[in-house]
Amino acid sequence: MRILVVGGAGFVGSTSVETFLEAGHDVVVYDDLSSGHAAAVVRLARLVRGQIEDQGHLEHVMREERIDAVLDCAAKSLVGESMIDPGLYYRKNVGGGVALLEAMRVTGVNRLVFSSTAAVYGEPRRVPIAESDRTEPINPYGASKLAFEGAMRWFAASHDFQAISLRYFNVAGATERNGEDHEPETHLMPLMLRVAAGEATHVQIFGQDYPTPDGTCIRDFIHVRDLAAAHLRALEVTGEGDPSFEVYNLGSAAGFSVREVVEAARKVTGRAIPARVVKRRTGDPPVLVASSRRARLALGWHPEHSKLEQMLADAWSWKLTHPNGYGRGPRTDGAALDRQPSDARGDRQISRPGAPASV
Ligand code: UFG
Repeated sequence: MRILVVGGAGFVGSTSVETFLEAGHDVVVYDDLSSGHAAAVVRLARLVRGQIEDQGHLEHVMREERIDAVLDCAAKSLVGESMIDPGLYYRKNVGGGVALLEAMRVTGVNRLVFSSTAAVYGEPRRVPIAESDRTEPINPYGASKLAFEGAMRWFAASHDFQAISLRYFNVAGATERNGEDHEPETHLMPLMLRVAAGEATHVQIFGQDYPTPDGTCIRDFIHVRDLAAAHLRALEVTGEGDPSFEVYNLGSAAGFSVREVVEAARKVTGRAIPARVVKRRTGDPPVLVASSRRARLALGWHPEHSKLEQMLADAWSWKLTHPNGYGRGPRTDGAALDRQPSDARGDRQISRPGAPASV
């Protein structure tokens, strides 16, 4: 397959690119590099810098690269930011997403896998959450992802798309080559590892008065390698059967509390990681755990790397080899995929016809 990974320079996208290449597929990455990193894209993949709302540019890339299928990992994804600027989330996640769908329709590419989120469920009424449970997002981030899923559903019905949306929860871990490097960083695990590395004095625990055994929130963490494998499996499945739109939850079905995660990180890193309990963060549901039964049955997918200790060990190892993320400092750029020739044209970027290369 020739796969276009939109948002392929981000954490989930870049690790998926690695998995696709290892499985023998050809990959083109399309990313505006607003939060992703050019250095996260292995040299074997072609990197095109572009905006998701630029339908013409997407069409050009899909035609020129003879794309068969698309993985869409491009999204604005900060819950807090979405509350402050909902317009940005609707513009990028819905408007941009529809431009992508239209570019696919015009060029005859009809296989799509979308990286969605558990935020579409809002405050779940029961756990583990099943795909058929009520979707009632409590922030513009979740609402915009759900709105795009609606567009996917109608493109599947009207334009013969085979489309799959994967809803997942808390992504963790790293590969040898790619890990989590966000600015600003808001996620628990990377923030804890910053403390372990001596970059911050302590981690904050947002609330210890939740209705859970130790009073802290429970989350379903999933290794980014397992997510990448699910994305590959989903793309393969879109080549079979009739046009359809399907939704699958991806989780490990084993939740861990914030306290358990901090404890495990202390063990894995051998560092103290001081923690201070502060007040609850707005909008955090007490427990978020997924049922991945459908994904297991339909995709034959099950998480293999999502043990808490392994996720932490892999993320810690990446942190140690990339002390400054993708910014500066030593890197493990000698990974096998990087040793391949970059591409036949010896040029990693293409841009809009007539426009200068933008990276
Ligand atoms: N937490 C802390 N201290 C921190 C950071 C987080 O105690 O410094 C807690 C949070 O309160 C929460 C848990 O750790 O209980 C996990 O928080 P994260 O910020 O790491 O992740 P979220 O569960 O908030 O977010 C994830 C995905 C989002 C998705 C959301 C669905 O990253 O994309 O689940 O609710 F929208």
